[in-house]
Amino acid sequence: MWVQVLGSGAGGGFPQWNCNCPNCKGYRSGRITARRRTQSSVAVSVDRSRWYLLNASPDIREQIESCSYLHPREGLRTSPIEAVILTNADIDHTVGLLTLRESQPLRIYSTARVKEFTLGDNTMFRALMASTGACVWEEIALFESWPLAGVSGDGTGLTAEARPLPGKAPLYIEQAASTAPGDTIALRIRDDRRGSVLVYMPGVKEVDAAIEEIIQGATCLLFDGTCWTDDELVRLGISRKTARDMAHIPISGESGSLARLADVGVGRKVYIHINNTNPILDEESDERRGVEGAGWEVAFDGMGFEV
Ligand code: MLT
Ligand code: MN
Ligand code: ZN
Repeated sequence: MWVQVLGSGAGGGFPQWNCNCPNCKGYRSGRITARRRTQSSVAVSVDRSRWYLLNASPDIREQIESCSYLHPREGLRTSPIEAVILTNADIDHTVGLLTLRESQPLRIYSTARVKEFTLGDNTMFRALMASTGACVWEEIALFESWPLAGVSGDGTGLTAEARPLPGKAPLYIEQAASTAPGDTIALRIRDDRRGSVLVYMPGVKEVDAAIEEIIQGATCLLFDGTCWTDDELVRLGISRKTARDMAHIPISGESGSLARLADVGVGRKVYIHINNTNPILDEESDERRGVEGAGWEVAFDGMGFEV
């Protein structure tokens, strides 16, 4: 399967519109070597002709325009994007659905929890289901694999499976909602012909045995690279929340992802969903050299590769 990174940044992107952190300021002034990044989304395809989005970011319009694979081909109103799978109901993963309305039928896959947060709590998303040529929103069950399909129902040559991750309800409902399995998922996507497996997990609170099991044996892992340290936002004076409070394991430290995943059996390890405060964005930083020296890659917008 072909994997195309559309947005490698976390919520807010990089640089973030209202941010003067050392990275955002450094990027704008040209003081650091870094690439700008849009918000979290990936596209997958076996034939590079029919595409499946993993999350739909608020930057989706720009992401589609900058990726020719995703441009309309034959027909007046048409798109090679057939379906979207949501890994949670966060703003940075769902708001792009609103840009994808325009009477374009799509299949949307999510857990029942994510569907309820998105459609139930945010009535505007019902526009997707209301027009002619409406979308189909399909609930996915945890631990069950299913053949990924577009609205036409044709198979894609990809089999997907959702596994629950310890996460939290999205920010806009965090105070009111309890957490439950299905709030956040990991996706395992298997190429039926090649047998290769992509694991996509942009939001992971901790690495435990269950998570190691999800990752084990994957051909490629796209993993939560939000923060370098747990107290990154606190130390910068940006937030009182730690990375873990936001259900993101930091990269560094004894219980960080770099250490916890050092020996996991996986072909290719790539950090994604990188927050604008993370020092690995600075391509000349010690932190960046550290992750690359440990065998990780750092995703960037426009990165594409075969799995
Ligand atoms: C996250 O990844 O923690 C969320 O996208 C934060 C947010 O909703 O702004
Ligand atoms: Mn996010
Ligand atoms: Zn910033």
